[in-house]
Amino acid sequence: MSDHGFETRAIHAGQEPDAATGAIVPPISLTTTFAQSAVGEHQGFEYSRSGNPTRAALEACLASLEGASHGFAFASGLAAEDVLLRQLPVGSHIVLGNDAYGGTFRLIDKVFRPAGWTWSAADLTDVSRLSSEWPDKAAVVWLETPTNPALNIVDIEAVSEIAHRHGARVVVDNTFATPYLQRPLALGADAVVHSSTKYLGGHSDVVGGFVATNDAELADGIRFTQNAAGAVPSPFDCYLVLRGLKTLAVRMDRHCDNARAIAEMLVAHPAVERVLWPGLPEHPNHDVAKRQMDDFGGMVSFTLRGGEQAALDMVRRTTVFTLAESLGAVESLIEHPSRMTHASAANSPLEVDPSLVRLSVGIETLTDLLADLEAALST
Ligand SMILES: Cc1ncc(COP(=O)(O)O)c(C=O)c1O
Repeated sequence: MSDHGFETRAIHAGQEPDAATGAIVPPISLTTTFAQSAVGEHQGFEYSRSGNPTRAALEACLASLEGASHGFAFASGLAAEDVLLRQLPVGSHIVLGNDAYGGTFRLIDKVFRPAGWTWSAADLTDVSRLSSEWPDKAAVVWLETPTNPALNIVDIEAVSEIAHRHGARVVVDNTFATPYLQRPLALGADAVVHSSTKYLGGHSDVVGGFVATNDAELADGIRFTQNAAGAVPSPFDCYLVLRGLKTLAVRMDRHCDNARAIAEMLVAHPAVERVLWPGLPEHPNHDVAKRQMDDFGGMVSFTLRGGEQAALDMVRRTTVFTLAESLGAVESLIEHPSRMTHASAANSPLEVDPSLVRLSVGIETLTDLLADLEAALST
């Protein structure tokens, strides 16, 4: 299957027709345990925390899309991040991009730091500074690209080259781009992490996480912790993500097209100060985005000339865009990161501009989305 195209693998990888019945959709294996013919003799599954056929299908499919030989599904994106961070020995230093999901910051600063790990924030878009000011003993660079919520683009290849020179690993949170638009392992990253709650699931009906890697030693550690700590997704949740993956490519194309039109409308709008979408030629990292992504994604952020109050007023006026946290599903969402998704980053190096509004552009009719934003901005 590895020589097939993305869409073919998204629909078929890990999903042979069921051997017993011929069902073309992998059954949702709602079983906790599996019969053994003699002690230790079974058909590959013993107990559903350790492994489950529906989860195995999802892990094979998503690993294939990321170009990975190992893939692991988790109960949430943060559960996936937690397991990946636990692979670092206690006391290791983590370099975190200075623009990242607030929950990732909270996990590293409020859970791992008190337990002995250290971390520092870095502007990962400035690779020459990262190289000249490399933090001693850094064991991992943890980066998002595009970042949440400012949509900065980090050069994965350049950061990986610097990190590897210092014996550190690179983790890329590929939630915003998805493997349809960007494949970090092929650009040198050591592991990819996802909130599959977002574009992979794609329908706002499942919380999940994923890790992909080609590093066999790292994979052994993740497999052990996945079973030992047990933050696994249910078979039904695995089925929902698998079903989402089948339409990922067509959904992403529409997300990207709608986002482009909305970004262009916002650029021309007098109430808008600055539009942050990596597909705009004036975006500071547009050239890197063009090189490492196949399109520019469905997330659009912008700041308003009227500051925080204008942002708070606007986000409650839209009617097609729903005011809500999360992103990446078919319906359009609008939010105010500094008071919502990134509230936990207040007074930290990751604090978000309070005049910033973030859109997760859905796949509804474009004219409805444009009219909704125009009305909310003009009132
Ligand atoms: C970029 C990014 N990474 C990780 C997460 C955490 O994922 P989850 O909410 O599935 O735990 C989120 C959630 O919003 C996110 O936006």
